[in-house]
Amino acid sequence: MKSTKFLIQNFLKKKAAGVPITMLTAYDFHAAKIVDEAGIDAILVGDSLAMVVLGHKNTVSVTMDEMLHHCRAVSRGAQKAFLIGDMPFLSYQADVRDAVYNAGRFIKEAGMDAVKLEGGKERCKTIRALSNAGIAVVGHLGLTPQSATKLGGYRLQAQTALAANLLLKNALAIQDAGCFLIVFEMVPARLAQFISKILSIPTIGIGAGAGCDGQVLVYHDMLGINDGFQPKFLKKFAELHQHTLQAFEAYKAEVESGAYPATEHSFTMPDEEFSAFIDMQK
Ligand code: KIV
Repeated sequence: MKSTKFLIQNFLKKKAAGVPITMLTAYDFHAAKIVDEAGIDAILVGDSLAMVVLGHKNTVSVTMDEMLHHCRAVSRGAQKAFLIGDMPFLSYQADVRDAVYNAGRFIKEAGMDAVKLEGGKERCKTIRALSNAGIAVVGHLGLTPQSATKLGGYRLQAQTALAANLLLKNALAIQDAGCFLIVFEMVPARLAQFISKILSIPTIGIGAGAGCDGQVLVYHDMLGINDGFQPKFLKKFAELHQHTLQAFEAYKAEVESGAYPATEHSFTMPDEEFSAFIDMQK
C-alpha cells in the first residue's frame, strides 16, 4: 500500500476545499497503527492521557517524561498521520525559554511533527518563540482542561456576547502569533462556525459542532472504553468496554472449565523423545 504522509500544508488545503479534517487521540503503538491504517489525517497525543491512560482525575498531573514516552510509541506506530504532541501543564506557562526547550523535545526526541498548547493572547509571546525556533504550533481555546478549575469545571464556554468576542480575539491573536491550527473545545456550534469562517487557519472541534474545519475525539471515549463518560458531544463508535469485558469473562470461564487451551492451542513433542524422557526418570 502506498504510504503518503499528511503534511502541514494539507490542513490548509482541506480547509480551502471544504473537506473536513479528521483527528483522533492515541497514546500507544498499536492504537496509533490502527488510527493510521484508518486514514485519519492527524493523531494528537493528548494530555488527556493523564485521565484515560494513567487514571488521574485531571490533566494537570501528567509530566513531560510521561508525554514523551507515549509520543515515542505513537511515532513508531504511525506512518502517515500528522503527529501532534500536547504540551503538559507547566511545561510552557512559566517561561518562554522552558517552552521552547520542552516543545523542542517533542520534535527532537519523540518524533512529533508539531506541539499543542492551551491559551489565547497570553500565549502569543511563547507561540512566536516556538515558531521562530521552527516548531509548528497548534492552539487550543474554549474549554482548556489545564485551567478547568479556574473556568469553573468542564463546561460549555463562550456563552455570552462578551465571552464570544474574547474567543474571537484570542483566536485571531494566536493565529497572528503563528499557530497553524486551533482546537475549539466545548464552544457553541454557531460561534465556532462563525469564527472558523473568519480565520484563515483551520479549526478542529471537540464539542464545537459541525462548522469547524475538522473534528477530534479522544480514543477511549469514542471507542466506549471509558464507559461511564457520556458528554452531549460524544458519539461512541464502538462499545469496547462491554466487548472487552465479555472477552475476559469468556476467558475466565474457559480456563476454569478446561475448555481453553484446547489441543489446537498446544504444542506437540515427538513420541520417541517423550518416551526417552520418561525412561530418564526411571
Ligand atoms: O488532551 C486532549 O486529548 C485534547 C483534546 C481533547 C483536544 O486536548
